Amino acid sequence: MTALATQQLIDLSYIAAVIGFILALKWLSSPVSAMRGVLIGEIASGVAVIATLFDPQVTHYKWIIITLIIGAAIGVPLGMVKMTAVPQRTAVSHAFGALSAALIGIGEYYVGTPHLTKFEMLEIGLEVIIGSLTFTGSLIAAGKLQEILPQRPITYKGQNVVSLSTLGAAIVIMLMLMAHPEYTHLFAAMVVVALLFGVMLVTPIGGADMPTVISLLNSYAGFSAALLGFVLNSKVLVVAGALDGASGFILSVIMCKAMNRSFTNVLFGAFGQVQVSAGKVTEERTVRSASPEEAAGILAAASKVVIVPGYGMAVAQAQHKVRELFDGLTKRGIDVKFGIHPVAGRMPGHMNVLLAEADIPYDKLLDMDEINGEFAQTDVALIIGANDVTNPAARTDSSSPIFGMPILDVDKARTVMVIKRSMGAGFAGIENPLYYMDKTLMLFGDAKNFVGAIVRELAGGHE
Ligand code: TAP
Repeated sequence: MTALATQQLIDLSYIAAVIGFILALKWLSSPVSAMRGVLIGEIASGVAVIATLFDPQVTHYKWIIITLIIGAAIGVPLGMVKMTAVPQRTAVSHAFGALSAALIGIGEYYVGTPHLTKFEMLEIGLEVIIGSLTFTGSLIAAGKLQEILPQRPITYKGQNVVSLSTLGAAIVIMLMLMAHPEYTHLFAAMVVVALLFGVMLVTPIGGADMPTVISLLNSYAGFSAALLGFVLNSKVLVVAGALDGASGFILSVIMCKAMNRSFTNVLFGAFGQVQVSAGKVTEERTVRSASPEEAAGILAAASKVVIVPGYGMAVAQAQHKVRELFDGLTKRGIDVKFGIHPVAGRMPGHMNVLLAEADIPYDKLLDMDEINGEFAQTDVALIIGANDVTNPAARTDSSSPIFGMPILDVDKARTVMVIKRSMGAGFAGIENPLYYMDKTLMLFGDAKNFVGAIVRELAGGHE
């Protein structure tokens, strides 16, 4: 094949890959087509990688094969973590993506200097700054989510001034480098300052803001890849990075809206700060608890039930038992729906994925906005391992760290039943006044075991 024909084939493959990326994003936006979206995204990435291997600039494969083996050895086990660890795993992936972008940018600088034009230096500088800060920021986020680092926001007086000055310093150094690309010590300083800024960016964020930060870091990793595309003159990387960056950014905006937060608040407000007194029920109050038998009796007498799943359902892997409960109740003619909060669990769409795995019909899964109007006509709101997303303090207690976050209005149902193991707090680390309401019954136990016990009771003990 002539060199021209090879190049044309590579370009065609890149166009096909880009179409695949766009379709992947489109299909990923609905649980019905999400699997197809993942598959086409994987195929498109594979096509882009294979086409690149045929680029005439790739003269030998030794290093590619070695790094492929190392990458696969890390990536395969990383892809097999438990569903509940996916947020921190995602943060680690962003860290690796950003690190590779930063390292390639650093390599391009040392190869090109001192002959880099001002524009080339700008491209490399921006790319290395964003890649470096995303690398350390993502590592801090992964550490917080894995609870290796403190989950609460770490703040101090004048923090925003210090952080913004650090970012400013990285940008000033980059501008100096545009005039003098030969100052290699300045370049090294810029990388160190950007790495430091990444740490400063994420340490003051915590609590319920972590989902937004993860999608924001995803977006930064995408943008650094797009900038790398400019550095390497790779159009497919520019487009793929821009798609990744833009979709991550849109997701961050959606998450902010769901949490009723502005971007500036997330980045500078230290929302998740755990105020020890906030949300605490100060006087001694008692809760009412019930057995699986009593819970089954109440459910059997209901005509409309809304199930609200949360992180605890994921931990307990209770989704299949929940499916059995759904079947048992619908068989009795009871109207059963699911109320899904956008940040229930630990990753966007967490509950949808689990309930889809258990084959619960999609049309029974209602978003917060759709279900909230129905709670007033609901006999039983059955909460399974959810806590923060049902906490009425978000509506009523202005001192609560989650004040203003839209919640599922379960307290408007006639009876509220909550399956959890103890009176322990949820992700935001605060008490939930819902548990002390007269209409609330606490069903203490592991979600899978308790739902299983209710299913057995409903089946007359013969299940
Ligand atoms: P949480 O508020 O975290 O509450 C989960 C509850 O599940 C806990 O109170 C725990 O109580 C219970 N639980 C744990 N294991 C259980 C088990 N085996 N059986 C039964 N219950 C169990 O969950 P949520 O209501 O889903 O809210 C999600 C929170 O995570 C929000 O604050 C959100 O901002 C944050 N977050 C979300 C995301 C995304 S994108 N979804 C990412 C990061 C953080 P016990 O210990 O008493 O059992």
